[in-house]
Amino acid sequence: MFPRFALILPLLLAVVLADSTWTPARPPSFPLAVKSPYLSAWLPAGASGSNGGYLPGQWPQFWAGQTLGWAGIVRVDGTSYVWMGKPEGFDNFVNQTSAEYTSTKSIFTMDVDGKVSVRVTFLSPINPNDLKRQSLIFSYMDVEVVSTDGHKHDIQVYSDISAEFVSGDRSDVAQWDSGNSGGQVAFHKIWKQTPMLFSEKNDQSEWGNWYYATDSKRGLTWATGADTDVRGTFSQNGTLPDSKDKKYRAIFDHWPVFAFSVALGSVSTEPVNTLFTIGLCQEDAIQFLGKHGVVSLPSLWTEYFDTDQAALTFFHHDYDNAVEASDKLDSKVATDSIAAAGTDYLTITSLAARQAFGGVELAGTKQKPYLFLKEISSDGNTQTVDVMFPAFPGFLYMNPDLVKMLLDPLFENQESGHYPNQYSMHDLGSNFPNATGHEDGKDEAMPLEECGNMLIMVLAYWQQTGNTQYLREHYKILNQWTQYLIDEALIPKEQLSTDDFAGPLVNQTNLALKGMIGIQAMANIAAHTSHKADAKNYSSIAADYIDEWQTLGINKNSTPPHTTLNYGNESSWGILYNLYADALLNTSLVPASVYAQQSDFYPTVAGKYGVPLDTRHAYTKTDWEIWAAAVASDDTRDMFISGIAKWIEETPLDVPFTDIYETGGDGGFGDAPHFRARPVMGGAFALLALQPNQGAHAW
Ligand SMILES: *[C@@H]1O[C@H](CO)[C@@H](O)[C@H](O)[C@H]1NC(C)=O
Ligand SMILES: *[C@@H]1O[C@H](CO)[C@@H](O)[C@H](O)[C@H]1NC(C)=O
Ligand SMILES: *[C@@H]1O[C@H](CO)[C@@H](O)[C@H](O)[C@H]1NC(C)=O
Ligand SMILES: *[C@@H]1O[C@H](CO)[C@@H](O)[C@H](O)[C@H]1NC(C)=O
Ligand SMILES: *[C@@H]1O[C@H](CO)[C@@H](O)[C@H](O)[C@H]1NC(C)=O
Ligand SMILES: *[C@@H]1O[C@H](CO)[C@@H](O)[C@H](O)[C@H]1NC(C)=O
Ligand SMILES: *[C@@H]1O[C@H](CO)[C@@H](O)[C@H](O)[C@H]1NC(C)=O
Repeated sequence: MFPRFALILPLLLAVVLADSTWTPARPPSFPLAVKSPYLSAWLPAGASGSNGGYLPGQWPQFWAGQTLGWAGIVRVDGTSYVWMGKPEGFDNFVNQTSAEYTSTKSIFTMDVDGKVSVRVTFLSPINPNDLKRQSLIFSYMDVEVVSTDGHKHDIQVYSDISAEFVSGDRSDVAQWDSGNSGGQVAFHKIWKQTPMLFSEKNDQSEWGNWYYATDSKRGLTWATGADTDVRGTFSQNGTLPDSKDKKYRAIFDHWPVFAFSVALGSVSTEPVNTLFTIGLCQEDAIQFLGKHGVVSLPSLWTEYFDTDQAALTFFHHDYDNAVEASDKLDSKVATDSIAAAGTDYLTITSLAARQAFGGVELAGTKQKPYLFLKEISSDGNTQTVDVMFPAFPGFLYMNPDLVKMLLDPLFENQESGHYPNQYSMHDLGSNFPNATGHEDGKDEAMPLEECGNMLIMVLAYWQQTGNTQYLREHYKILNQWTQYLIDEALIPKEQLSTDDFAGPLVNQTNLALKGMIGIQAMANIAAHTSHKADAKNYSSIAADYIDEWQTLGINKNSTPPHTTLNYGNESSWGILYNLYADALLNTSLVPASVYAQQSDFYPTVAGKYGVPLDTRHAYTKTDWEIWAAAVASDDTRDMFISGIAKWIEETPLDVPFTDIYETGGDGGFGDAPHFRARPVMGGAFALLALQPNQGAHAW
């Protein structure tokens, strides 16, 4: 067995000496395997930590911060070096020389004593137009090794995962098995011995089977067992004993790990690759209260594959296709982002892409697929309307049908009579994956916010797809929400907006604007469905309201003038992000003078990393800043975008991309809630969704 006594000192000295380069930036956290609310592994990378952003020398984390054991070792001519994680007892780390991210990939390049280069590519595919592939909760890790000194080297590559993936409670008992699918894909399967369907602990899921897999080929050996034993055996021998540890036990009890070792033989200047797949198979995905009462909705992948192993095998063998599709998506996002606002904007969009898609998962059937969203990190709600809303430019840009799949469960629940309030519900369940609604009507009330959001998202979806039938089907409830807006939008009562962390407020200028744009959206919906009288009436109401709103909500005496945070409070202001909806829908409701005025105003109140959300706090919202940027003058847009890009590089935060941070100081959280990994960062795509007919492009 590996000598445990040698472990103590080297641990303290585990310092990575060489410096890495960062392209396009050193983000707060690198997405590693980020594919769903539950497959969400990240590498802390904030500029503050000594090992931040280095794959060797620290452990990956679940988005919520708990360690996920995922290790990598390479043996070169008999000497072992760690390239991923911080295994106990190892003090020999490779030197990371570069780290890079795109929309779908994070790539780390490492040097081993000037002899060999190791390049590790984490690929979490985004397949917006291919539901079969998008439904799979798997991610790739490709390890490429090549000689860099012109000599041949004898090399073995090792990787394992721990049972930390299978439960959020490390004292829970894990069980496992190892096998081989069709003689082609070798896998470890790990699960919670007593699964708890639809349950979470510390936001990790407590049901389903986890897989770690690689090609079954010559030179492959495997083992399950205690971390120090298995890693130690490989380190000494360069092989694993093909043996199973049959003592199922708690995750933290001699940390069982699930390992593969691949003997690459003599490696020259011709690169050699080893591909690993990691992922989660849950047959049941969501508990949903829809038109058939409470039902258990299957993960959508079960429509395409009969078994976990069929899904796993398909995914593992699909790598070439995945690389091609991902390269295409990466380059489309890059081209569009640079054209819209330059390379700083690309720094933001490419960091946001996997995060936005990592907040959702497909469930249901081929005939009726739904896209369920988890309000990650803030409160875990399912299908939160005001989280979908900031996120939706990303889905609209990638594939507008995904917006429908997000909206459908909300319509179905409310139209089946499961929600008593006249206004739109806030969310479909207080904790993902339960979408069982609020039959008592006691969800977190954001009435104006959510009515406006629903109407705006529906019209935006129609504009990209021309699906008029959709407008007809939901006309009744959309009209009901419009009545609410007509009654309440002009003089908003004290209530919460989506920025609930800042507290309730009466007469919110920006919230009133959303309501008015919502009424105008309904006027357009009415026009498209031959409800001529409604169209005319709602248009004229919206126009009257906007006239009044300009008197109520704008401080015309300040230089430059600006909208207030709340009516009548001349010293208050805030980011008027709902203006974006007016531009997106091309309603021509809000006069151009308002756009120009806000654009001139924001630079006068900007801090080092951006414009505060409003006068109540120094923090801002990353998503809303980008919404505001999308409808600002070029200079003001660039100010917003460069502020966020600068923040990405400089913030000490080392959590997955937060949508809230202090605009001054060191760009930490300040007095803001510690949000992270929220799907709202789909809002990063606001500039791209503005371009007409975005949905038409094929990925
Ligand atoms: C890492 O870099 C340091 C400093 O150049 C060097 O001393 C060390 O040997 C390198 N380690 C490896 C594994 O390449
Ligand atoms: C979902 O609902 C079930 C009861 O149907 C409950 O056992 C489970 O804990 C809930 N899940 C979460 C994450 O709250
Ligand atoms: C190394 O391999 C040899 C032969 O395959 C085996 O006898 C020995 O037990 C292995 N060592 C370890 C530490 O597993
Ligand atoms: C809200 O604004 C309206 C219009 O200016 C005003 O009449 C009303 O008093 C305000 N409400 C509160 C509580 O300030
Ligand atoms: C316009 O809509 C409002 C609100 O629904 C309603 O009270 C009013 O009667 C309508 N007016 C016309 C002319 O249809
Ligand atoms: C926006 O609406 C105006 C009319 O109000 C129309 O002239 C223009 O073509 C529309 N633009 C787009 C991009 O649809
Ligand atoms: C006006 O707004 C400022 C800044 O948000 C706030 O400090 C102040 O309390 C507000 N005044 C009133 C009367 O609401």
